[in-house]
Amino acid sequence: MLASWAIPDEIVARGEVPPWSHDPDTFAMDDTTDAGDPVFELARELLPLEGGTVLDVGCGGGRSSLPLYPRARRIIGVDSNRAMLDRFAASAESLGVEHREIEGRWPDVAVEAEMAGTPLERVDVVVCHHVFFNVPDLEPFVVALTAVARLGVVTVLPRRHPMSAWNAAWKHFWNIDRPLGPTSDDAVAVLHALGIEPEVIELPRPAVSRHAEDPAALVRSARRRLCLTSDRDDELAEWLRVDPPDFMREVVVLRWPGGLDHEGP
Ligand SMILES: C[S@@+](CC[C@H](N)C(=O)[O-])C[C@H]1O[C@@H](n2cnc3c(N)ncnc32)[C@H](O)[C@@H]1O
Repeated sequence: MLASWAIPDEIVARGEVPPWSHDPDTFAMDDTTDAGDPVFELARELLPLEGGTVLDVGCGGGRSSLPLYPRARRIIGVDSNRAMLDRFAASAESLGVEHREIEGRWPDVAVEAEMAGTPLERVDVVVCHHVFFNVPDLEPFVVALTAVARLGVVTVLPRRHPMSAWNAAWKHFWNIDRPLGPTSDDAVAVLHALGIEPEVIELPRPAVSRHAEDPAALVRSARRRLCLTSDRDDELAEWLRVDPPDFMREVVVLRWPGGLDHEGP
């Protein structure tokens, strides 16, 4: 189902930047990041009262885990994108939280570490926000998340594919009908097939970053997502004014126990 989101090569070739790339500014910590958001409370409920450790898979700039400091004393970020990891490290440093960065794809980095005889350190809680829709092979991804978490895993995803927000624009600019699935229900089905019965909690979407709300940033983002060129910016800005992208209004949290809790905290 994820493969059906592929964009035809000839359209990708017309764009100025890869349509799937993320802008690190959008995922950086800023003053819109609300540490009291229920998404973080769901992770704090699992963490020990002091000295907790967290692994954030697909950490981006750290919006998904750094708000857990000071309850979490040590936070490890994994990301395949170096620029994102640099943001994560800088924000962690300025907060004063103990941190480590691992560059690479999950679960490959966990498997490679295991094979090299230096398995990843276990953590109390694994968080993984807004990554599932990037993962075509979800089963080994989830198995590895669960194995490294002692107490629990908290994942967050939108109900629909995050690029669904641009479906109407794809129809308008390219006359292409974009897919409607998969949805978060398909992710839950994958977990069930693995014998995991997650808690499924729907929450309002946390605040987006200031950067994402900036109209100029929205035009740049739309241009990238839609493989358009900057000479169409005025047309794009007008389209966005009348037909703003249908961004998700709620997120789905999937939370399940860690794989190693039998060893005790
Ligand atoms: C949409 S961003 C979310 C960032 C952050 N978790 C947040 O919620 O703000 C997705 C991030 O996951 C990373 N990513 C996607 N698939 C990955 C994988 N298999 N392994 C490691 N990082 C991945 C991307 O590089 C990107 O930084």
